[in-house]
Amino acid sequence: MSSTRRHFLKAAAVTPGLLAAAQAPKSPNDRVQVALIGAGGQGIGDAHSSVAQPGVKLVAVADCYDGRLTSAKEVFGNDVFTTRDYREILARRDVDAVIIGTPDHWHSIIAIDAMNAGKDVYCEKPMVQHVEDGKPVIAAKEKTGQIMQVGSQRVSSVVYQKAKDLLKAGAIGEFNMVEAWWDRNSAIGAWQYSIPPDASTTTCDWDRFQGRAKHVAWDPKRFFRWRNYQDYGTGVAGDLFVHLFSGMHFVTGAIGPSRVYATGGLRYWKDGRDVPDLLLGVYDYDATDQHPAFNLALRVNFEDGSGETSGFRFIGSEGILTIGTGVTVTKHPGPTEPGYTIDTFPKATQEEFMREYRKQYPRTNANADSMRPDVEEKYLPPHGYSDHLDHHRNFISAVRSRKPVVEDPTFGFRAAGPALLSNISYFEKRMCKWDPKTMTLLG
Ligand SMILES: NC(=O)c1ccc[n+]([C@@H]2O[C@H](COP(=O)([O-])OP(=O)(O)OC[C@H]3O[C@@H](n4cnc5c(N)ncnc54)[C@H](O)[C@@H]3O)[C@@H](O)[C@H]2O)c1
Repeated sequence: MSSTRRHFLKAAAVTPGLLAAAQAPKSPNDRVQVALIGAGGQGIGDAHSSVAQPGVKLVAVADCYDGRLTSAKEVFGNDVFTTRDYREILARRDVDAVIIGTPDHWHSIIAIDAMNAGKDVYCEKPMVQHVEDGKPVIAAKEKTGQIMQVGSQRVSSVVYQKAKDLLKAGAIGEFNMVEAWWDRNSAIGAWQYSIPPDASTTTCDWDRFQGRAKHVAWDPKRFFRWRNYQDYGTGVAGDLFVHLFSGMHFVTGAIGPSRVYATGGLRYWKDGRDVPDLLLGVYDYDATDQHPAFNLALRVNFEDGSGETSGFRFIGSEGILTIGTGVTVTKHPGPTEPGYTIDTFPKATQEEFMREYRKQYPRTNANADSMRPDVEEKYLPPHGYSDHLDHHRNFISAVRSRKPVVEDPTFGFRAAGPALLSNISYFEKRMCKWDPKTMTLLG
């Protein structure tokens, strides 16, 4: 009893100082020094988008493959400090913020370590690999007062903002259903990433890469194509559904479904992966003060045959709103006749029915004046627009101002949670119940 109490008091005594330091704003011109942990495809893209913001410099990089450390120096300059051990980065005083671009199984661990070390965090999606990892990340953010942005960039997109505004203004009436999909038909789209010719246990720190996953014999496919294995990744749900949840939650103000069911299979890419390449999910969203009750249907198919397509359809009482490159609103045509099904009635009844019907819906001949106006409206982003740059702009400005980011750990977990439940539903062949408010798996 007493040792628990002492421990609590000690922790509480440290917290206000930590919080005060973390909450002190900087000037908008102050230099921000960032470090990258996980320098693969996305991490390097994140680093570029961060250093594209005025006054931001990349000072350090950690990765488990030496080739990526060499490449980071080639791209960002020889003075960048490099290491295999991310803890050396967290110990550096010249690092204000870290970008986490590692495989999914490292996200929550490094995010928590970084915030405890007094660093702000930009963490790639999905925020966590397992549902039970979510609340500890939120708690670390609360305890330390550090800034943390989760990396589903469409939350910062002007396209999704436009969709949000249109939906709120009633452009399609009251929506009742949302469909979203992300189909791909290529080896790279299906995660068969290149393996460098020098891949070995000399150039790759395999033990460190595996981290908390069960340790198995060296396998360059598991290292460079980690998404295909549950030990390190989160399947198509954690990779792609999570983007769809983030975008949809941002547009609708929803915080998550109450019921989750997913099915699918490994249909085409039988290359040793232990996750499906086709996944279908259905989700029930209960009504809140932000939106009516609605249903969501998601799909990822890696053997779709039609190249790569991704999009949303919001179906409403007065029209349909789609999101692709831009936003399109198609209104349902105005009030029409209800129609009739009278053929099987006796002739006299049919005549009587039609007399009444035509009184209510008089027949008008079409003429030029009776043509309906065009009911489709399209909104396109500026040429070359990048939501990824905007997402990093939002992060870096929060690092300076200490104001909230658009995609904090609670938002990030509310998107990752139902994506991860889709995996549980698929593998355990069952429906999952979720409390989106408390972010708890109910069964
Ligand atoms: N926001 C987006 O649109 C988007 C797009 C692609 C990927 N991502 C996310 O970015 C993350 C990385 O994906 P990727 O395609 O760049 O993977 P990748 O395999 O290209 O890069 C991951 C890198 O992390 C390194 N790494 C592994 N464990 C590490 C550790 N403990 N410390 C330091 N480095 C470590 C690996 O060596 C590897 O170089 C994933 O979580 C993915 O979901 C997001």
